[in-house]
Amino acid sequence: MVRTLHILERINVCDMNGMLKEGSFKDKTIIVTGGGTGLGRSMGEYLLELGANLVITSRKMEVLEQSAEEMMKESGGEVLPVPCDIRNYNEIENVIREAENKFGRIDGVLNNAAGNFISPTERLSHRAFDIVIDIVLRGTSNFTLATGKNWIEKKQPGVFLNIVTTYAWTGSGYVVPSACAKAGVLAMTRSLAVEWSKYNIRSNAIAPGPFPTEGAWKRLFPGEVAEKIDPLKRIPLKRFGEHQELANLAAYLMSDYAAYINGEVVTIDGGEWLQGAGEFNGLEAIPAEMWDIMEKMRSKKQG
Ligand code: HXC
Ligand code: NAP
Repeated sequence: MVRTLHILERINVCDMNGMLKEGSFKDKTIIVTGGGTGLGRSMGEYLLELGANLVITSRKMEVLEQSAEEMMKESGGEVLPVPCDIRNYNEIENVIREAENKFGRIDGVLNNAAGNFISPTERLSHRAFDIVIDIVLRGTSNFTLATGKNWIEKKQPGVFLNIVTTYAWTGSGYVVPSACAKAGVLAMTRSLAVEWSKYNIRSNAIAPGPFPTEGAWKRLFPGEVAEKIDPLKRIPLKRFGEHQELANLAAYLMSDYAAYINGEVVTIDGGEWLQGAGEFNGLEAIPAEMWDIMEKMRSKKQG
């Protein structure tokens, strides 16, 4: 945990402001799954600041209640905490009911909740594999189906924003259940963007690179793992993402300013995944003096 905090302290703090116009989400109600912690909370806080009514949901009611209280105090806006395990369809129907009772209608769903941990795949029990698939893929598809049907039945427009990862398309060892599930969520995002556009329902996704949160760091970079695979070293911009940077992008994609963006996945990772993909990107390790020597040798040969 001390090591986790050490990494968290290295976040590059810059003066980061909100990007959208004040009141961009006035009279809109957005549900954020996993909205009591980490990135879900940061994105929710910004939507609130922009005037949204917020519904936050996850398994732990005490966490949700405390976050809702703090968020309302800070923003003066309305936050409704509703407990729900997104693996259970009937609990999602209850979130929809409670959200409509309180705010009248739902305008958007930010599918952010997830479960993940690192492990060699052969060490996983089938239950461990299932649990991640069930939270990430089944949970997201449950929420999407329940709210989508509700919007279609009521002839209301709506917007989905799904949080995936960059390994949704590259795959990644040691987080295989998560990679499978996020790839499924990405496929669902693109499929429904087309199928449900006739109902005026948009679907987009964001693929974040590393944004420090307690939930992700303690499970993905525990103890000495953080030192062995320092995630900062993989990022061309040499810093982690700021939560406000992600919140700006999320709010934009969910807002009416992005009304023509449908079926897109936007990567926000400081160039991390391409760094791993480009054949010669490793030449970053070659110092300038070595390039000078190679250049001299080349011109000598030519001369
Ligand atoms: C191997 C593990 C394990 C681990 C749990 N299991 N943790 N196996 N390595 N580290 C196994 C258990 O032994 C059990 O199998 C099964 O998984 C279920 O475990 P439980 O602890 O009973 O499950 P539960 O209490 O429901 O917790 C779910 C969880 C947990 C997914 C395991 O981590 C959780 O609550 N996560 C929610 C938040 C989270 O993960 N946030 C990070 C998202 S970050 P057996 O066979 O023993 O019964 C993210 C970022 C990606 O996605 C990209 C970053 C750059
Ligand atoms: P986090 O704080 O651990 O968030 C995960 C949230 O999901 C928690 O609030 C958790 O709350 C909720 N959740 C888990 N299982 C659930 C279930 N069965 N039903 C309902 N809610 C459930 O981690 P985070 O870093 O903010 O991650 C948020 C999202 O960003 C995830 O989709 C993650 O994959 C993605 N992401 C994060 C990073 C990063 O660097 N942080 C990078 C790429 C992608 P409860 O425990 O109360 O249920």
